[in-house]
Amino acid sequence: MLRFLSFGKGLRTLLVATASMVVVSCASDPQSPPVDEALINVPVGFPQPAFPLDNVPDANRVALGKILFFSTELSRTRTVSCATCHDPAKAFTDGRQTSIGVDGRIGIRNAPSLANVGYGPYFLREGGVPTLEMQVLVPVQEHNEFDMNMLDVVERLSRDSSIAQMSRAAYGRSIDPYVVTRAIASFERTIISGSSRADLDQLNASERRGKDLFKSDATRCSTCHGGFAYTTHEFANNGVYASYTDNGRQRLTFKSTDSNVFKVPSLRNVGVTAPYMHNGRVAALSAVIESYDRGGYPHPNKDPRIRPLGLSSEQKLDLEAFLMSLTDDHFLTNTRYRP
Ligand code: HEC
Ligand code: HEC
Repeated sequence: MLRFLSFGKGLRTLLVATASMVVVSCASDPQSPPVDEALINVPVGFPQPAFPLDNVPDANRVALGKILFFSTELSRTRTVSCATCHDPAKAFTDGRQTSIGVDGRIGIRNAPSLANVGYGPYFLREGGVPTLEMQVLVPVQEHNEFDMNMLDVVERLSRDSSIAQMSRAAYGRSIDPYVVTRAIASFERTIISGSSRADLDQLNASERRGKDLFKSDATRCSTCHGGFAYTTHEFANNGVYASYTDNGRQRLTFKSTDSNVFKVPSLRNVGVTAPYMHNGRVAALSAVIESYDRGGYPHPNKDPRIRPLGLSSEQKLDLEAFLMSLTDDHFLTNTRYRP
């Protein structure tokens, strides 16, 4: 059935909408059952995470999901894993402008960090995928990523007796698309970053000034990059480019007002997730700050909050210092995220 859905590049939205009916019958509304603190340590200031009723994380589910996240068996050529593009040492990004999948194929988008991804209300830069379980199908099918088919993935994995055993322990059934999508999502929900120096209130004078600026009416940064995740998850055009080749949210809604509009990314660990923006065309934080200071390029959909700021060179450095203080060393080196 899924083979019929192999559209190749583009059409992710359609793929996922259709695949949801075929494979992933996610159960109802997310709930918040008690969290197993050994698995998910909710940082101070973070809300309790919510889980789908049929996929509450437990040790078996997370362990299987982690193995699958680092497994190259999911890619047609057996050379690419989720971690190839989402490297834990880089806050689960890949350091490239746009990612490289099977056969060296280059994608069109920059790989986002997966830190705190379990709190996301929707996924991908146009927000077209509603659950983490469904998102797993995207790289599997994507021509420029795994270029595989979920049924072939399952066939490969079922030959591995230890995975077969783990699947039974985790979900009481043999490895199948239900198990693969849910186990990987369970591992992803443990990817939590909330102990940067900014969280621990260990900022020096420059970082502190930068923080005040970030939250001020003068810059309005925190109106989009606000809250515990440093994103409100809203969609905006921030005027960073004079011209765009990626339609952004318009791909999903077909509205002209969503043309070149993208999900606001989290700024946690932004000091290690360069290059920036949906297509990775901005190499450094200093260049990001210059763009905001100029008020971006003109664009019909540019958010009114993006206006010339008139920052002094010291203010720009302070702002950059604050962004760097969002790096969470404990998260980046945590062995629970290593294969
Ligand atoms: C070839 C590189 C590549 C591989 C392999 C890959 N990803 Fe991604 N991932 C990306 C890119 C690029 C995006 C952004 C795509 C977009 O917005 O359209 C992304 C987006 C995501 C998102 C959405 C994050 C958000 O905040 O919206 C999640 C979750 C994710 N990937 C998880 C995974 C998982 C799980 C796997 C393995 C099953 C995987 N990825 C494999 C490159 C990759
Ligand atoms: C109107 C909402 C909005 C405001 C205000 C805003 N941003 Fe952004 N920011 C965005 C969007 C949307 C993107 C992603 C754009 C893209 O992918 O092309 C982004 C991207 C970024 C990035 C790149 C992150 C990454 O991982 O690619 C950084 C850094 C950043 N903003 C910092 C700031 C700072 C600093 C300020 C204040 C001077 C600010 N932003 C104000 C919406 C906003």
